Amino acid sequence: MTSPNTSKVTICLTNPKSPTNVGAILRAAGCFGAHEILYTGNRYNKAKKYSTDTQNVNNEIGTIHVEDFLAEKPDDAALICVDLVEGATSLPDFEHPEHAFYVFGPEDGSIKQEVIDKADHVVFMPTKGSLNLAASVNVVLYDRTAKMNRDIENDELIKQSRDVNNRLKIK
Ligand SMILES: C[S@@+](CC[C@H](N)C(=O)[O-])C[C@H]1O[C@@H](n2cnc3c(N)ncnc32)[C@H](O)[C@@H]1O
Repeated sequence: MTSPNTSKVTICLTNPKSPTNVGAILRAAGCFGAHEILYTGNRYNKAKKYSTDTQNVNNEIGTIHVEDFLAEKPDDAALICVDLVEGATSLPDFEHPEHAFYVFGPEDGSIKQEVIDKADHVVFMPTKGSLNLAASVNVVLYDRTAKMNRDIENDELIKQSRDVNNRLKIK
């Protein structure tokens, strides 16, 4: 089992269109412990102020504009393309690498074929139709957490994560 402390996760967004999606992805990155979000294109730059990250994760996790994800990827990170690609591995069957660069397509398109051609892994989620972009990132990060982070103190994590007014317990 891989320790979450030694793993590193980068989320790569291909020219994202909707600031609400990027806001929801920032929140997912914070909740699931991703380290950074890279994005290409300029549509998000124009709409950044409408971000819907209600936990202010943006202060801790960088959203960094880049020209090319591949130029940013360290040699020890695996490039994982997540999209509906013929021949892709189903997410339930996928074993996540410790150091991962997950690439997602835009809301209104797909990952470029030349990026798919350079991927170490290509993964799809078995859905009828496509998921919303932010939902896709949440599902991938949840799947990674479910498969890798098994040594969790459940109640401690629940107490740290919930609203201050939440005192719910099973009696
Ligand atoms: C709304 S989808 C865009 C349309 C999608 N490329 C298609 O061909 O139907 C936005 C992005 O979410 C991710 N995505 C959505 N559903 C997915 C699925 N079932 N499997 C893998 N990726 C998915 C991909 O990264 C995709 O580019």
